[in-house]
Amino acid sequence: MAAGSAPGWAVGALGVVCLLLLSDFISCDPQVIYGAVGNNVTLHVLKEKPFKEIVWKRGKDKVVEWDDKSDVKAFLSFKDRVHLDTDSGNLTIFHLTASDEDMYSIESPSVRNNSMFTLKVIEPLKELVLSCTLNGGNITMSCTLMEDPDRHEDLVQYSWDCPPTIQCQGGSVSSEVYVSRESDLSQEVHCTVSNPLFKRIASVTLSTCVPQAPVVW
Ligand SMILES: *[C@@H]1O[C@H](CO)[C@@H](O)[C@H](O)[C@H]1NC(C)=O
Ligand SMILES: *[C@@H]1O[C@H](CO)[C@@H](O)[C@H](O)[C@H]1NC(C)=O
Ligand SMILES: *[C@@H]1O[C@H](CO)[C@@H](O)[C@H](O)[C@H]1NC(C)=O
Ligand SMILES: *[C@@H]1O[C@H](CO)[C@@H](O)[C@H](O)[C@H]1NC(C)=O
Repeated sequence: MAAGSAPGWAVGALGVVCLLLLSDFISCDPQVIYGAVGNNVTLHVLKEKPFKEIVWKRGKDKVVEWDDKSDVKAFLSFKDRVHLDTDSGNLTIFHLTASDEDMYSIESPSVRNNSMFTLKVIEPLKELVLSCTLNGGNITMSCTLMEDPDRHEDLVQYSWDCPPTIQCQGGSVSSEVYVSRESDLSQEVHCTVSNPLFKRIASVTLSTCVPQAPVVW
């Protein structure tokens, strides 16, 4: 397979092929795959006939190459870090690092669709803090992720879980809600922060948000 000799051309051709195939209702939108830092991820395609040759690429660079007359060959940073299943075409990348994040594609006559993947490498969410303050008649709750702004902040979602008897109202940002001080303060409110692979939950009991009444004997 001549792949790799004219990488710029090959990438351009891929785009053209996708356009041509659109008339067959074949999707060329890259499939987004999420992998966790330090973990593994498998890119999987559907074959139309048994594989005789496979090239997996990251952008324009080869990751692995194989044909039925030679062994699997892995390139550059992927040496010792990938496994190609020549039966399924599955490419597994181990020990993911942030720098593995890129576009990947398979080139093989056995795959009619040019399968493209966007790999996003995600880090576990760190500590989550739910704080609350009393502002006049409102208790404002704020969920804060204790970490440097994540590379994938756009993938982080906040959601709130309030008991049915409590009316939580959304604040100006999704990481904030407020409830009336007159609510049933024995109830707990939960904040969930998630990205496509990880999730964290923090809880607060509303009574801890207001000054405690002095104890009268
Ligand atoms: C890939 O990672 C998952 C999750 O940690 C683990 O269960 C699985 O065994 C790993 N697969 C391989 C082939 O190492
Ligand atoms: C190929 O990868 C897919 C997706 O991870 C998995 O469901 C399937 O079992 C794999 N097949 C083989 C033969 O490893
Ligand atoms: C090609 O893509 C179409 C539409 O997404 C899908 O139905 C079909 O199974 C794919 N074929 C192969 C061989 O991947
Ligand atoms: C509570 O918050 C709502 C919405 O921001 C506001 O309309 C209301 O005046 C607040 N009440 C008090 C007592 O601060």
